Amino acid sequence: MNKTVLITGATSGLGYEFVKLFADDGYNLVLVARNTEKMSAIQQTYSHLDVVVLTKDLSKSGAAKEVYEEMKAKDIHIDVLVNNAGFGLMGEFDQLDLQKQVEMIQLNITALTELTHYFLPEMKERNSGRILNVASTAAFQPGPFMAVYYATKAYVLSFSEALVEELSNYSVTVTTLCPGATKTNFGSVASVEKTKMFSKAMLSDVVAKEGYNGLMNGKRVIITGSVNKLGAISAKFLPRSLAAKIAKYVAGEK
Ligand SMILES: NC(=O)c1ccc[n+]([C@@H]2O[C@H](COP(=O)([O-])OP(=O)(O)OC[C@H]3O[C@@H](n4cnc5c(N)ncnc54)[C@H](OP(=O)(O)O)[C@@H]3O)[C@@H](O)[C@H]2O)c1
Repeated sequence: MNKTVLITGATSGLGYEFVKLFADDGYNLVLVARNTEKMSAIQQTYSHLDVVVLTKDLSKSGAAKEVYEEMKAKDIHIDVLVNNAGFGLMGEFDQLDLQKQVEMIQLNITALTELTHYFLPEMKERNSGRILNVASTAAFQPGPFMAVYYATKAYVLSFSEALVEELSNYSVTVTTLCPGATKTNFGSVASVEKTKMFSKAMLSDVVAKEGYNGLMNGKRVIITGSVNKLGAISAKFLPRSLAAKIAKYVAGEK
């Protein structure tokens, strides 16, 4: 029987690349995002697989629980959970819309935490499962002008690494993917395309493939690309104030 993967943010960027990678390996797919049309198109492309489309706005309270309940009602067991949906916003913290920033916390943190909480017990029971949480190189330092976004990704990394230890007696793996700037819709949604940090953005298929391989090998943390790896390691050794200054510099225009 084919295994099933649930992918949030399956309609574009990294999420869509994950769809292709899992489909190529014969996984049945549960797609979660807001754009039904794009998900239906994916469903048609992979008509040889079982593809379930769930139109959900995960920035809304209760949406993650609805996802879980729909899986239970359909008697679908999730073998791999990919918490990928997320977005960022660039600007002065107090000038950015508060509601949008709260929605970002709800999507990047709360929905990811809730989905993990709902699907993990079954994985522990079966003593088998994989979880991929998409963080960012933003997780490694404070991010002036993207303060909330960077903080959400620091949460994802810390939360996921803690679970790795909690689950050390189980065959359930938790992998955190930390991409740097990557060519997807993220740049236009977050208004960061003209910044220095996006001057050498990686290709989404390359980033997703690195994440996929790391997930399948049960790696804890994957930082994509050698420049990003170097940046993340440097951030560990620099004073936080200096790391924040560097993040502020790269958030400036090219
Ligand atoms: N691209 C980068 O430079 C970069 C770097 C580091 C980390 N990341 C992380 O990578 C992940 C994927 O982003 P991406 O770069 O692939 O960006 P993207 O192309 O904008 O894709 C974001 C995906 O999330 C979905 N999504 C957005 N808001 C949602 C909501 N409220 N409810 C449900 N789904 C929602 C979108 O689908 P719908 O619009 O159909 O809902 C879309 O499929 C994010 O967690 C992001 O923070 C990206």
